Amino acid sequence: MKLTPTLFFVLVITGICLTAQPSYSQKPKFFVEIIRPRVEYQTDPIGIDALQPRFSWVLKANTRNVKQIAYEIRVSNVPDKLKNGDPLLWTTKKVPSEESNQVVYEGPSLESAKRYYWTVRIWDNHGHVTDWAPVSFWETGLLKSSDWKASWIEPQMSADVKAVQPCPLIRKSFKLNKAVRSARLYITAHGLYDLEVNGKKPSDWLFTPGWTSYTKHLQYQTYDLTKLIGKGHNAIGITLGNGWYIGELGWNDARNLYGSQIGVLAQLSVEYADGSTTQIVTDESWKYYNSPILMSEIYHGENYDARLEIPDWSSPSFEETGWKPVLVKEYNKDNLAAQSGPPVRRIARLTPVDIFVAPNGDTLLDMGQNMVGWVQLKVNGNPGQKITLRHAEVLDNSGNIYFTNLRAAKQTIEYTLKGRGKEVYEPHFTFQGFRYVKISGFEKMPEKDDLAGIVVSSDMEPAGEFSCSDTLINQLQHNIQWGQMGNFLDVPTDCPQRDERLGWTGDAQVFSSTACFNKDAATFYSKWLKDMAFDQLPDGRIPHVIPDILKNGGATGWADAAIIVPWTLYRQYGDKRILERQYESMKAWITYMKNSSGSSFIWNSGEHFGDWLAFASTRSDYPGATTDKDLIATAYFAWSTKLMSLIADILEKHEDAAAYHDLFNNIKGAFQKEFVTPNGRLSSNTQTAYVIALTVGLVPELQRDSVAARFARDVKSFGHITTGFLGASLVNPVLSEFGYNDLAYMLLMRKEYPGYLYPITKGATTIWERWDGIKPDGSFQDPGMNSFNHYAYGAIGHWLYTQVAGLQTDPIIPAYKKIIIRPVAGGGLTWVRASHESIYGQVKSEWKTDKTEMTMKVSIPGNTTAEIYVKTKDSQLVTESGKPVSASPEIKFLGMDRGYAVYSVGSGTYEFIAKES
Ligand code: BGC
Repeated sequence: MKLTPTLFFVLVITGICLTAQPSYSQKPKFFVEIIRPRVEYQTDPIGIDALQPRFSWVLKANTRNVKQIAYEIRVSNVPDKLKNGDPLLWTTKKVPSEESNQVVYEGPSLESAKRYYWTVRIWDNHGHVTDWAPVSFWETGLLKSSDWKASWIEPQMSADVKAVQPCPLIRKSFKLNKAVRSARLYITAHGLYDLEVNGKKPSDWLFTPGWTSYTKHLQYQTYDLTKLIGKGHNAIGITLGNGWYIGELGWNDARNLYGSQIGVLAQLSVEYADGSTTQIVTDESWKYYNSPILMSEIYHGENYDARLEIPDWSSPSFEETGWKPVLVKEYNKDNLAAQSGPPVRRIARLTPVDIFVAPNGDTLLDMGQNMVGWVQLKVNGNPGQKITLRHAEVLDNSGNIYFTNLRAAKQTIEYTLKGRGKEVYEPHFTFQGFRYVKISGFEKMPEKDDLAGIVVSSDMEPAGEFSCSDTLINQLQHNIQWGQMGNFLDVPTDCPQRDERLGWTGDAQVFSSTACFNKDAATFYSKWLKDMAFDQLPDGRIPHVIPDILKNGGATGWADAAIIVPWTLYRQYGDKRILERQYESMKAWITYMKNSSGSSFIWNSGEHFGDWLAFASTRSDYPGATTDKDLIATAYFAWSTKLMSLIADILEKHEDAAAYHDLFNNIKGAFQKEFVTPNGRLSSNTQTAYVIALTVGLVPELQRDSVAARFARDVKSFGHITTGFLGASLVNPVLSEFGYNDLAYMLLMRKEYPGYLYPITKGATTIWERWDGIKPDGSFQDPGMNSFNHYAYGAIGHWLYTQVAGLQTDPIIPAYKKIIIRPVAGGGLTWVRASHESIYGQVKSEWKTDKTEMTMKVSIPGNTTAEIYVKTKDSQLVTESGKPVSASPEIKFLGMDRGYAVYSVGSGTYEFIAKES
């Protein structure tokens, strides 16, 4: 049998994959099983510090309409006893509940450094009880700062703290007297650390301990070393790098922003086979020495002299001749917290598509993709021979590599060979944003395999796929995904290449909902939001960047990330805890806006970026789309307040909710007086003004349609988008909301500047910072602000998923517990396929259309329901799985709504066909 794409689809959608093990005939006629049991969004995590972790699981069934009606969770320290129920640490017993997400542990207080096993079973709406799910576990980290017995240690670095210094190696050998049952290492650093144990790397995590608001929040990581150490002699080796802690950060040559010395804190807890325990901790007995890494800086790259390598330096038998004792330092340990976001890892390897000589004589390699990470170098040569790699994103008009938009970031690797056979090298504490690399120092032209592109990113599980019949749109989706990958490196950054790479809040605000479609971004954002609260300025302003290094904030549309991002996480994952945790921070931000706008409710003070990088023109009658910042600020003040009133209600803080509701009404009234004319024109006649006002609900109810029509006329007369960062994410959603899908598709499909596909016609493989980073004549935009990897305009991705594929969660019920599938065909697309791995399982929406019919294939996960909107003029023309819909009693016809027949369904897969006649 030939596996055609169509057949493949049919097999996957019906759950019968050729490679699947038992066929349905071998399975019971009806089965429901529990898959994906997770704790705090993770599978079997170790070293977490949630005191009341949350459980979730997914139901997989071979029949339609499966729901959970009750569950039972058991937790024990003894895995074998879970199923027979003795002894249990905690059991929920049978709880009548549909909830299979965000179920909170409410057993006895958890202890530090303990493993807890758990399982769950459920009762479904067809009268079955499932088997117990395979036993899972979570393991706590160090829950109290007093659990830390280790001391901070530091190598003695040069007194000149501004000097760039070699990265130190730190080591300790130790003897264990008995066989080891288990071993955990808890470790963190000031700066970045790279860990080796007995000459091996215990983990593939990079850029540990991550970037946080260090003085208030420093993450430690937990490694299971059970397999790496044992009875006898062992050694731990740590390389330290400057990282964000003391390295250069920001565009003002600033360094040492969190301290002036790098150091490490580590504690190894060993349990012997006989049950006794011992600890090895960082203290004065550890020694340090210089490494071959002479310089390693986030922005600037690395300088590595392989001749200075110290073989076996992290092995137990190594002689520490000449190594110096570390200094022991006292630092408060109250800021220590377990790693809570996803680790950064190498996530892909690219082979260059070309190595060539540019017109100016430079030898360049082309990765074929604007990427973030580094080059893995394989080279043979002579001792002392130096290879230099300089990274950049684009070629200029003449075909030469273009460095100017990197501003002060050097993005340069210098590798000096030791000259003994094949040398393989990757840099340590730096990353580059690049597609092209200028290479020099090779004796002969290298092979492509000798210069691989190692892509690094926060390793989040893929959660979304979108493809369609238009290759340019598919490239757009690719660019959005790669923009996200490259800019999600422990914090959501604006760009990965120039001397910036900061956690700009505005960019995150507009992109977070797209990001959560593409990847499971729950813990990534939740970790970042912790730092947002930590770094909030005393007057309530949210800093422009998180972690805050600029010590400035309070910009409209940027600072509102404090409310919009947690709200996005709630909508996407049903995460109420994030709302609770951020509540005081959100409140303080609203209070700041309220105080700033006073009794007028018009916010007309402060410094704002406004609709950043909006369309500008050289026409003297239309210089560009500048939206009044007072209008934007007042509208965002209203928006955040409106969301706050919903959030307060969700958290059952009803008095607060009422107060925010009143405040919203006051702002709305003031907004209308100040910015909306009696005939429904906005004082700033820009697309951004219209879409913000309509999104937030700031125009009088009766005028909404006419205001939307005015906005639509504007879009039509320009024929293109004119917004910057703030407006862009709202334009297509607002057009769709008011039925102007043809215009929304027109904007999507536009290939000329300014438009989403324009950069693609110029070869973009990531989203650009500006609509015209490369202008139509091939010249570049202002190099002071011209990144070719900036995800903000990728916010269109949300519209692709929710409108083009029609995949939405209910406006009230979050997290896809109730799904809406309502695709909007258009733009000449003949098919669209999208899926999203929701917290309840995978949702799929696929449609194809020709002149005679529209087919929709939909997949709804267990324990959820959906409303499916099938475009048709008459519900009689609709079939499902080849039969009249009425033949399937489990599908309920709810009626016609604006040209759609609406059906209510339970879980399962469905194929609706609407014939033209
Ligand atoms: C960043 C933006 C950011 C902006 C604020 C830029 O330098 O790259 O993405 O939001 O500054 O003005």
